[in-house]
Amino acid sequence: MTEPQTAEVPDVLLREFASVVGEAHVLTGEATAGYAVDWTGGFRGHTPAVLRPGSTAEVATLLALCSDAEVPVVPQGGNTGLVGGGVPLHGEVVLSLARLAELGPVDADAAQVTAGAGVTLQQVADAGPALDLGVLIASRGSATVGGAIATNAGGLRVLRYGPMRAQVRGVEAVLSDGTIVSHLSGLVKDNTGYDYPGLLAGSEGTLAVITAARLQLVPRPADPVTVIIGLADLSEVHDLARRALREVPGLLSAEFFTRTGLDVLAEHADLVPPLQAEVYLLLEAAGPGAIEDLAALAGNMPVAVATAAADRSRLWAYRERHPEAAGFLGVPLKLDVSVPAARWVRLASEVTGVLRAVDPGATVIIYGHVADGNVHVNVVPAATADGRHEEAVFGLVASLGGSVSAEHGIGALKAPWFPLVRSDAERELFTRIRSAFDLAGILNPHVLPR
Ligand code: MLT
Ligand code: ZN
Repeated sequence: MTEPQTAEVPDVLLREFASVVGEAHVLTGEATAGYAVDWTGGFRGHTPAVLRPGSTAEVATLLALCSDAEVPVVPQGGNTGLVGGGVPLHGEVVLSLARLAELGPVDADAAQVTAGAGVTLQQVADAGPALDLGVLIASRGSATVGGAIATNAGGLRVLRYGPMRAQVRGVEAVLSDGTIVSHLSGLVKDNTGYDYPGLLAGSEGTLAVITAARLQLVPRPADPVTVIIGLADLSEVHDLARRALREVPGLLSAEFFTRTGLDVLAEHADLVPPLQAEVYLLLEAAGPGAIEDLAALAGNMPVAVATAAADRSRLWAYRERHPEAAGFLGVPLKLDVSVPAARWVRLASEVTGVLRAVDPGATVIIYGHVADGNVHVNVVPAATADGRHEEAVFGLVASLGGSVSAEHGIGALKAPWFPLVRSDAERELFTRIRSAFDLAGILNPHVLPR
């Protein structure tokens, strides 16, 4: 997407890095390849070095060295991001937090745990048998705590538990000059000044490098039930999801996908459609009465029901594999947008049309989180990917009072459209906040434009 250039890092600085983390953890040349591209293949950069610190103190020393040398840095977690915010598109040094993988004991009284930035979300979810992490995303086996906080990851249970920011009770982070700030006691009530952990959530690595977090856990949902209901159109999906929010107290998820994406998965991933429909609504609920509530909601509509873990996973695969669908056809543009609930049907039904108007041959696959007003628009372009697709989708979204990023961030992909949804005054404030945290201006300089 962006032409790779590589920052110059003098040998003497590489040797200093090695003296901090050990030679084995300063990667150069071919060894950096996997860190320089995202998993969709849509963002490919280049880096002079990947640094793999093993402690917060090492992160602090490395950042101080980079600040002194004015070397730009891209922090990277599990590299599962979708907007190019964690790859070195401008030749930055990559700071991989993968080795900060310590998971503390579960505090059963508070239902909290302290996790290093490199711990995966799945490991946090598995930390205690009766507890779970409120954030559930398809990439949970690779996505890490630091990255999920830095991008304020959303996912499949936001309607019940909120995004990653809502799970954060405290963070430990390193400023670019090497200062360590830490607030990990996990107090539920703590009105002692600015909520910088909240500010770091969604900051996309531009303010500080998160090294650990204190996370609130939720009770593990009891006896979850998953259903997929076949519907005729997006308006029916919206109406039924809204009813589910009102009538199913144990509701955890309300997700949609369409026949277009399912057909691709049927052809390329051997998924056999659970039932024939134009549009599908996946609902999951748990706790007393969940199965009766879902059955009452589905009424006479075509429905697939699962209660056993293996059956539920099979139903979830139809939705969770949708992010892969467009990738079977080409290198996709992955646009993640949201609008107010009352305009969701317009967004979901009009977006394919506005894309076809600028690229008649484009394949458009939509899916996402109905209850959050969030649609993932995956486009495999036929015409040149010169910004016309983003322009079309984001123009529609802005006209509906929506956001150009619901849960994936701004990253590199959406930087040009940032002013569409944030005023001059807001962006000026963002710049001032950024300068207060990152004095040297080295943290992810090309993400969230100043
Ligand atoms: C999802 O909801 O599946 C994720 O946000 C990932 C994606 O949209 O590709
Ligand atoms: Zn999503």
